[in-house]
Amino acid sequence: MTTIREERRLVTCLFVDIVGSTDLTMQFGAERLKRELGAAFGEISRIIVAYGGTVEKYIGDAVYALFGAPIAHEDDTLRALRAAEAVRDWCASGAGHGHPFRVRLGVETGEAVIDLAAAASTKQQMSVGPVVNVAARLQQRADPGEILVGPAAHEVAADAAEFEPLPETELKGLGRVAMWRLVGVGSAERVSLPFVGRDAEIALLGYAYERAVKGRCVLAVVSGPPGQGKTRLVQEFLGARAAGALVIGTRCRPTDETGVFAPVRGLLGVQTIDELAEQVGRICDDQVECERVVAGLAESAGIGESGSLAGLPAGEREDEIVNAWRRYVALLGTDRLVVLAIDDIHWADPWVVRLVDRLTFGGPRLLVVATARPEFADAAGIRPSGDRFFIELEGLEPEAARRLATLAGRGDERVIERAEGNPLFVVELARALPERGDLPLTLQGALGARLDQLATGERVLLSLAAVAGERFSAADVAFLARDEVPDVGRALNRLADLHFLDIIPSGYRFHHGLLRDVAYSRLLAAERMRAHAAFAGQRVHPEDAEALAYHWWEALRPPDAEWVWAEEPDLPRMRREAFAAHLAAGKRHAHHAATDRALELIERALSFADDDRQRALAHQTMAKAHQQVLRQDEAWSELRAALELYRGAGQTPLDVYVDLTEAAKWSGAFRQRPPEAEVTRIANEGRAAAEAAGDVRSISAILAAYAGYMFNTHQSQPDLAVPHIDAAIAAAEMSGDAAMRRTAIELKISRLEAAGFYDEMGGLIEELRATERELGTFSRMGVARVTADYHFAMAHRAENIAEVDALMAMAEPMGPHNRTHAWNQATELYIALGDWPRVKDLARATAKLLRDSPGTAFCVAAANILRDGAIAHALEGEREDALALMAVYVTDEVDRDIALAAPRALLGFASPETDAKLAAKARSWWSWCQAAFRAVVLQRPEDAESAIARMGGVVEHAVAYRALADGIREAVAEMRGGSAASYASLERIGYRGWIEMLRRRVKAEY
Ligand SMILES: Nc1ncnc2c1ncn2[C@@H]1O[C@H](COP(=O)(O)OP(=O)(O)O)[C@@H](O)[C@H]1O
Ligand SMILES: [Mg+2]
Repeated sequence: MTTIREERRLVTCLFVDIVGSTDLTMQFGAERLKRELGAAFGEISRIIVAYGGTVEKYIGDAVYALFGAPIAHEDDTLRALRAAEAVRDWCASGAGHGHPFRVRLGVETGEAVIDLAAAASTKQQMSVGPVVNVAARLQQRADPGEILVGPAAHEVAADAAEFEPLPETELKGLGRVAMWRLVGVGSAERVSLPFVGRDAEIALLGYAYERAVKGRCVLAVVSGPPGQGKTRLVQEFLGARAAGALVIGTRCRPTDETGVFAPVRGLLGVQTIDELAEQVGRICDDQVECERVVAGLAESAGIGESGSLAGLPAGEREDEIVNAWRRYVALLGTDRLVVLAIDDIHWADPWVVRLVDRLTFGGPRLLVVATARPEFADAAGIRPSGDRFFIELEGLEPEAARRLATLAGRGDERVIERAEGNPLFVVELARALPERGDLPLTLQGALGARLDQLATGERVLLSLAAVAGERFSAADVAFLARDEVPDVGRALNRLADLHFLDIIPSGYRFHHGLLRDVAYSRLLAAERMRAHAAFAGQRVHPEDAEALAYHWWEALRPPDAEWVWAEEPDLPRMRREAFAAHLAAGKRHAHHAATDRALELIERALSFADDDRQRALAHQTMAKAHQQVLRQDEAWSELRAALELYRGAGQTPLDVYVDLTEAAKWSGAFRQRPPEAEVTRIANEGRAAAEAAGDVRSISAILAAYAGYMFNTHQSQPDLAVPHIDAAIAAAEMSGDAAMRRTAIELKISRLEAAGFYDEMGGLIEELRATERELGTFSRMGVARVTADYHFAMAHRAENIAEVDALMAMAEPMGPHNRTHAWNQATELYIALGDWPRVKDLARATAKLLRDSPGTAFCVAAANILRDGAIAHALEGEREDALALMAVYVTDEVDRDIALAAPRALLGFASPETDAKLAAKARSWWSWCQAAFRAVVLQRPEDAESAIARMGGVVEHAVAYRALADGIREAVAEMRGGSAASYASLERIGYRGWIEMLRRRVKAEY
């Protein structure tokens, strides 16, 4: 891996072509032209280099230059545009060469592969990438004097330069490309957003400021990585606090760009010795002193002859300079504090730093505020003292970051998380288009510039570390770099000193996640993919399915895998491992209901599957992921796909039948349920296969799931399911399996519920809870539902209220159908308690839910809520509202005559059909319970008595229904002329709503 010689990097290409050199040949003759062109190319190169570019080569009459390699700057695109303008203007002016040339220019930004060795030595032929071709073609398209700019360069510079859009144009070999004409590069920076946060740092700077005001020399260094907000903090602080002070600002740049004196000249604000003398003369009356100060200042700024100091030994010369500066500051600050603000002092030449150090170590009062990269303070040798403030700027607090992101246009969590509090990243990410996952080009530039502060070897280590992960050890990186661990460890420690990495107990981590992204993106695809494969094969713990899946995916993912691994004999084995890792990781995520991620992983597993058995397994696992969140339609169709594939492969495992029947059991969660015949056929087929194999566990699992399916799909005819339930309980108990034990308990509860034997249910519910805990299984919802039913029937009012509240909360994030189950449990309780407003609210919400969820299959639970709502409205004389709820259609499977029996009676409908239906079709005790209410309301004592009789066991075995039966008997007695009903049993358990229903009498004509 140490052989890495090439990098992918973000660069900006500039092509310049001199127009019409054939004409010029005619005009000047070959010899003169050659000289003229030579001189022009020389000047063009000089301009390009001055803006920080590198001339790659000359092609005929064209110059090809690169910005961003070998060294990236934060603003390479703007530099290229400025250079383009300067080249064009120089050529057009004719200055220095007597007659104007015209040039065509093309500029584009993008990724290119850079040959590091070539970049380091000859600088020839170092870049390859589509960006180079686009820039070249743009230049060919440009009219003389025109600068054409491609889409990426335009995107980066859109805020800082003015462009004129041109029609999209077909460029040879590149397809249609959007392009712009550069109108001009402004000097304006982007409009700043309002300042957020940073209260603590402002307070610290305020403290430094106060000390200086009181007469001391103070140095405050604000340090932090690029974009952390150093410059902005100082600006804001000085803007708000330094009104009475004289603030002089300057900015440092890499010295090869501007020379070592530029920052000092910036502080003086002059370019020549005459200007300097005049400036000092204005504040200094003493001629001799004035000359001395000017000489010292001029020496520090590298201007003028400065004859008097040139002859001095270095130490004395420096003393003279420091003295001159002290005097100058004192003269400036006779009546106010002088503040020198030096931005990016880490770029400054060491002697400038020494000057600052000495100036602020005693002397006239002064405040120097400098900003610097984190590595600066340690390295610069600034002496500590009580008047030195080092403020390490951390990321913004999450609250401030969120505010900034919102101000920038998009305060979503993804932005906040990725930016890790760095305001520049916050702003750029928030401004970038959300659908573009990749890093905004502006950020790539900023981070790339930071990487280029490193030596090539260090940068390569960082890129390899990025392959290992967000966190990694020295051994991980040494493995990838094929180097010795101690050497790599030393290098990584240095990178930690430079704040590229943080040291953590298990090794290292990237100081900022985005830095990792950029370091990573510099590797060539082939190197990156081979590194991931090697890492997956040898450095990841075999149990860490997620990490394995990640590395295998990055090693084998499309589209590059095809050519990178074309010749690899070991590819089938690698794909097998990738398949297994993805499937395992997918299962783990499915198990934790991280469904989307699970599906993504399994989808990837599928892409590595080499036969139908693997494919079937992947589909079966996808079904599990869906099933976890009750997406039954999807689960069912994945399982059907798996079944077909298994059949085709000639071998169908039993568990796919178990999964299918189990999926069907959650009948209420389907939008469109599979037909009963299909479910029954599959269950039978599975059972036969399990019997043939003598697999008791599978037999019992299929039977249990099928019994549950029958119970759930025939809710008003529980007796249809009872034989299946009995068969399943017997099989479950025979199987001796722990999970089957739970299933058996569930089935027993269902059986008791079907018969109304609630008083026997308490122990089973306890048992069910205990096994749930033991097995850690999913169906908390199921347990909560039977528990609420149980408490309702046993009139445990407080427990019932608590369980219903919990159930409603649990169902809130679930699908609409599950919500109606929870709500139905609630309306059942509220009806009994007579809490009519809440019943009406839930009924209204249900009607809306039905309207809003046309794709969802609802069941009798929704119908029951509507019924309860109609009852509540009818009791309160709101006839129209009751009718409206009764008109809402739920599903074919609900017999509306039976479901709406009670509210119909309350509204005085004479409907013999309803009675006929009840007589012919009602099988469940709960239907008869409604029939009993109906009979009392309609004043038909015989019907009421026969309904109670048909309610069966529940009247004996459930406190609430026993009280109801007592009440109905009293009402019957009253109707027959006996004493007035007292409803004392219902009163005792607090079911006053039921009492209110039983007191109502309506006369209906038949
Ligand atoms: N506290 C803040 N509130 C609002 N914007 C900020 C804040 N800090 C920084 N920014 C913005 O983030 C970007 C980077 O800040 P800057 O001061 O240039 O960083 P640095 O000097 O550390 O590289 C700028 O656009 C700046 O306006
Ligand atoms: Mg800055």
